Amino acid sequence: MNEARNLPPAARADLLPELLARRAREPGALLPILHELQDALGHVPADFVPAIAEALNLSRAEVHGVVTYYHHFRDAPAARHVVQICRAEACQAMGADALLAHAQQRLGCAVHGHSKDGAFTLEPVYCLGLCASSPALMLDDQLHARMTAQGFDALIAEAGATP
Ligand code: FES
Repeated sequence: MNEARNLPPAARADLLPELLARRAREPGALLPILHELQDALGHVPADFVPAIAEALNLSRAEVHGVVTYYHHFRDAPAARHVVQICRAEACQAMGADALLAHAQQRLGCAVHGHSKDGAFTLEPVYCLGLCASSPALMLDDQLHARMTAQGFDALIAEAGATP
């Protein structure tokens, strides 16, 4: 299950100033800062971008561009479960596009969207290290190889039944 990071409001408010004070002077601080925020909150809140940009002497567009360029970063909270389907070359050669199309239909959402019931976020990922057993996906922190549409449905049904 995706670990929702529900920090108390006070802890959330303290997080960014503390992080910027600690890391902003480091060379190449942007990515480490974004990673820490993603780890702590599960996403990089859009309302944090102006302060990050100011602290690092970057434009807001530059910071936003990095957040949206890297698929690892989310700019909004994920659902309880996160499904990441590999879209890299080996998986594509073994039917990842069809698997993704099935996932979108089954969940009722597009890539980067949330399922109709709000329980799943669907994301692309680019290689999970299971190229020899493709197509591959990751559901929360669990890797699954040689995935089929039927296997996908079974995984979703099982995960959806757990709180
Ligand atoms: S290409 Fe999909 S796991 Fe490597």
